[in-house]
Amino acid sequence: MTSSERQPENPASGGAEKHAWFSQDRLGMFIHWGLYALGARHEWLKNREELTDEHYQRYFDNFDPDLYDPKEWACRARLAGMKYVVVTTKHHEGFCLWDSKVTDYKAPNTPCGKDLLAPLVEAFRAEGLKIGFYYSLLDWHHPDFPIDVHHPLRNHPDAKALNAGRNIANYAAYMREQVRELLTGFGRIDIIWFDFSYPGREYRGLPGKGRADWESERLVELVRDLQPGIIVNNRLDLPPGSLPDVTTPEQYTPRVAPAITSQGVLWEACHTFSGSWGYHRDEDTWKSPEQIIQLLIDSVALGGNLLMNVGPTGRGTLDARAISALEVYQNWMAVNGRSIYGAGPSRYPVPAGCRYTQRGNRLYLHVYNWPYRHIHIEGLADRISYAQFLHDASEVHWLSHAKDVDSNIGVTVPEGMITLELPVRRPDVTVPVIEIVLKA
Ligand code: GLC
Repeated sequence: MTSSERQPENPASGGAEKHAWFSQDRLGMFIHWGLYALGARHEWLKNREELTDEHYQRYFDNFDPDLYDPKEWACRARLAGMKYVVVTTKHHEGFCLWDSKVTDYKAPNTPCGKDLLAPLVEAFRAEGLKIGFYYSLLDWHHPDFPIDVHHPLRNHPDAKALNAGRNIANYAAYMREQVRELLTGFGRIDIIWFDFSYPGREYRGLPGKGRADWESERLVELVRDLQPGIIVNNRLDLPPGSLPDVTTPEQYTPRVAPAITSQGVLWEACHTFSGSWGYHRDEDTWKSPEQIIQLLIDSVALGGNLLMNVGPTGRGTLDARAISALEVYQNWMAVNGRSIYGAGPSRYPVPAGCRYTQRGNRLYLHVYNWPYRHIHIEGLADRISYAQFLHDASEVHWLSHAKDVDSNIGVTVPEGMITLELPVRRPDVTVPVIEIVLKA
């Protein structure tokens, strides 16, 4: 066995055995659901429109997701090939989906009248998905959360004076209590996803917030104590030198695998299907089927995961656009999942317009730009034992270097090149994948 044939060492594996499932699973579902679903114009509407608590109260008073059926969400997630879920237990607006004992600002006190989190956890677990909780560090409702650059009252003429009565230490204690509830009341939790820190962002004399405010170290200690196997994300502004379990690039595709102080880390890109995390009725930048499949391949090809978001409606449903986006994954993963689960980067040089993933001696060539009949590949001469399309297991022929392809026109092809022979018509698959079986 040469080094290039071995299972590619995943530079993002972080070394922790207990988190091995994460790199195996690769695709998760993010769910952003809260009162903002009623405003239906982005989960930051309270911030963007600088709404007061009194104004925002209308969403609390009318929150009644009567069609909520978490079993349906869970089933769609499983069919889409998603292996874990991360749900907003509390987003920046401060509203809690569960029956928290330390606040009245929670689902059971709205017209819906019940805890929405417990049935969701149960439904996703029943479908075999792992469970992650998103928990917002920001809180635009808590009376002890000091007004800052992101707060809806940031331009209030008395913002500074209002802050005099707000005690961040009380808020940090409140967060610990809530996190304790979340990590003791719902069984095993696999991921906790804190969002987010902005220590340097001062605005009109109002300081930003970071680890000193959240008391991040203490919070993480509590988390580890309550759920030793859990994965904690990277947005707590922990002191330099402490490696997070997972780092979370948002809404962009890294060019190289993210590293922290030049060490590889587990990472997970998070993306939306459209331009909003929360349900947005009128937003229209929904990504194409090719784009959403490519987001997944791009992540895995660099050793990362993808957390893909849905924003359910105020009725508790996934709208038609979200359902068809999930079905894009469903159709593609049903036949191509083998190039994703447990796969990671390959050391082989990848042909232009393509991405490789690799698992053991299986190399997966994802063809983004369909060529005219041929793909020329370096580094695989005498290495291939078989090649086929993944979606239908139809054989793909390859030619070994110049003499087979170009000899009669005298063109020289570099020694060591092989050429895959493809059908002129691109198969009807969002992104076709060729499975190359390497010689043992
Ligand atoms: C950002 C946004 C937020 C979203 C999150 C997901 O930090 O504040 O609305 O929940 O990204 O990564």
